[in-house]
Amino acid sequence: MIVPLKQIINKAERGKYAVGAFNTSNLEITLAIIRAAVKLKSPVILQTSESAIKYSSLPALFGIMTNVANTIGKSVPIAIHLDHGKDFKIIKDCIKIGYDSVHIDASSKNYSDNIKETKKVVNMSYKRRVWVQAELGAILGAEGMIDLKKGKIKMKDTLTNPEQAYDFVNQTKVDTLAVAVGTIHGSFKGIEKVDQARLQKINKLTKVPIVLHGGSGLSPTIFKTSIKNGVRIINIDTNLRIAFKKALQTSVNKKVSKIDPRKILQPSTDAMQREVERIIKIFGSKNKA
Ligand code: G3H
Ligand code: ZN
Repeated sequence: MIVPLKQIINKAERGKYAVGAFNTSNLEITLAIIRAAVKLKSPVILQTSESAIKYSSLPALFGIMTNVANTIGKSVPIAIHLDHGKDFKIIKDCIKIGYDSVHIDASSKNYSDNIKETKKVVNMSYKRRVWVQAELGAILGAEGMIDLKKGKIKMKDTLTNPEQAYDFVNQTKVDTLAVAVGTIHGSFKGIEKVDQARLQKINKLTKVPIVLHGGSGLSPTIFKTSIKNGVRIINIDTNLRIAFKKALQTSVNKKVSKIDPRKILQPSTDAMQREVERIIKIFGSKNKA
């Protein structure tokens, strides 16, 4: 059932667990995420990037998410979130159509412009009480893999400064904050580390729920320690893409005679559901619906 993100995260704050924010762009991914949440009696966040909205149009994608959430997902709390919003028109349209939360990603701007753009979205969302996520520090990697070989990533220059985060949250009054503490968009098993001391300090100073982007590829230990240090929302996209593709390759290569898209895609939907279930168990949100 669709509920305000505030309701989900306030409960996670009390219970000291994290809620997965899983990217979707179609029916199959949405079904996988919601079936996993129902099976494990877990809250969950469905999130769409701007490119996902462009792929299927906002009304179509929002309709899929809300209808699946309010029928198949009616027994668990589900929130809908715009991920990495940069285009004010898209952000505005998402607030208008009924998103529970929007991310204004102005992290590539200088500090004062990031504050200005973030405040603009906070004011936009105020009337409808939509939660706003901002981003301070740069989380590397695009919507997929990043070529680690090309030049050295000067990670330390991108990390969120805890004192600056304190000032940023006070000036903008955002509801949640996406921080750069060492994760990268994409899955780089064993390479990504989280600067837990930095995370702990940001959490202590800002007192808002922290969002960890670039969740794919992180180990259960890193997740659990980050949750202890104040992370309440963890974004996952690449892991689901990998699960989808691996299952599809097997499915397509099997019975050549199989031509029904539902039959061809079913193994991918099941594989993504298993991955979401695995992740929900690590985040501790199982049986917290
Ligand atoms: O915003 C989406 C997430 O940060 C995706 O990160 O692909 O590493 O899971 P991921
Ligand atoms: Zn992200």
